[in-house]
Amino acid sequence: MLPEGVLINGLTGEVSPGTGKYTKRLSELREIFQDQTELDRLVEVEGDPVVYEVIEYRKEGSDLFFGTTTMEPGKVSGEFFMTRGHFHQRRDMGEVYYTQSGHGVLLLESRKGETKVVRMDPGVCAFIPPDWAHRSINVGSEKLVFVWVCNVDAGHDYGDILKHGMRKIVVDRDGKDTIMNNPHYSL
Ligand code: PA5
Ligand code: NI
Repeated sequence: MLPEGVLINGLTGEVSPGTGKYTKRLSELREIFQDQTELDRLVEVEGDPVVYEVIEYRKEGSDLFFGTTTMEPGKVSGEFFMTRGHFHQRRDMGEVYYTQSGHGVLLLESRKGETKVVRMDPGVCAFIPPDWAHRSINVGSEKLVFVWVCNVDAGHDYGDILKHGMRKIVVDRDGKDTIMNNPHYSL
C-alpha cells in the first residue's frame, strides 16, 4: 500500500482515481418519501431521475476510505431529494462529511431519539458521532457535493430508518427549506 493524492472535483463529485461507484434513482427510493403517488408520477414523466451518486476511493488493507456523494436538486411534492439515511453497523464508528458545493441539510438522529441538524454549506465539515443516524438532503437548486471519510468496518445499517423513518422531514414551504415533524414517523 502506497500513499497517493486523489483529485476530487468539488463541483461534479468526480474522484480520480475512484475505485467504485453507484447511482440511486428516484424509483429506488420510493419508501422514504411522503408522497409516493407523486413519486410514481415523476418517475413516469421524468424517466426515473438520478437522485444521487456515490464514488469511493478504497484501498485493500486500509482502515479508512473516502469518497464523494453528489446529490441532484429536486423535490417530490415539496419534499427535497434525500439519501436513504442510515446508522452504521459498528456503533462505535462515526463519520466526517465535508461539503464542497451546493446547499444541504444533514439530518442526524441518535438512538435515544435526539434530533440535530447541521447545515451543509461549502466549507462546513460535519462531525457525525458514532451511533447517530444521518441523512443528507439537497435543499438548493444546484448539485450538493460532499466528501465523506469513514472507517472501512463501519458498515451501513439501513433497516431502522427504512422501517420507522426519521423524526424530521425537510420540505419547501414558500420557497424556504423548513424542518418539520414527520407525520409518518412510527416507533
Ligand atoms: O457513508 C456515508 O454515510 C455516505 O457515503 C452515504 O452512504 C452516502 O451519502 C449515501 O447515503 P445512503 O447510504 O444513506 O444512501
Ligand atoms: Ni454513514
